[in-house]
Amino acid sequence: MKIDILTLFPNMYTGFLSESIIKRALERKQVEINIHDIRDYSKDPHKRVDDYSIGGGAGMVLMPQPIFDAVDALKDEDTYVIMMTPQGVPYKQKMAYNLTKKSHIIIICGHYEGFDERIRSIVDLELSIGDYVLTGGELPSMVVTDSIVRLLDGVIEEESHEFDSFNDGLLDYPVYTKPNNFRGMEVPEILFSGHHENINKWRHDEQVKRTQERRPDLLDK
Ligand code: ADE
Repeated sequence: MKIDILTLFPNMYTGFLSESIIKRALERKQVEINIHDIRDYSKDPHKRVDDYSIGGGAGMVLMPQPIFDAVDALKDEDTYVIMMTPQGVPYKQKMAYNLTKKSHIIIICGHYEGFDERIRSIVDLELSIGDYVLTGGELPSMVVTDSIVRLLDGVIEEESHEFDSFNDGLLDYPVYTKPNNFRGMEVPEILFSGHHENINKWRHDEQVKRTQERRPDLLDK
């Protein structure tokens, strides 16, 4: 899979791409991630990418030309274009799974007041990572990229995401490590039983209990 990210702030991705599981997936060529500066595609003599909002109003608006040219230059016959915006559909784990099936994704990150409305005509999916407004689409694009990459074949052990929160519409069960007693708090007895069927049942019951307490909306579905 190849992911091309269009941004005005390429440096924001340095840490994201150079640490931990994403770094390893890049080294092993399990994914290709390229960061593109939108400014490089501007035809303006001063490399401008934004302008005033026609009709008035606060804030600058991203112009269509650099974005259209960047997408034209990067897309192939099988490209899926995503735009990060608080007005997008709420991002969910199921979408991360669906996106792993794409061979090439372009993610457009906005900044300032917003995108010129005509940019929407070249976008397949608008995504929001939550009902709050960030300064730009960079952090959301990292959230989406991270959630996809960890699901790609061989990036992490299959088992690690088989029981992820949300996979079966339930939150994760509690997990413990040593010591068995920490400041008076004991690891539940059942986990020492070695009886896998009983342990799995206990874990499932805990998942349901936790989901009922914290996210009853998930159970309604
Ligand atoms: N850009 C700014 N805020 C955002 C959000 N919540 N989701 C996606 N993109 C954004």
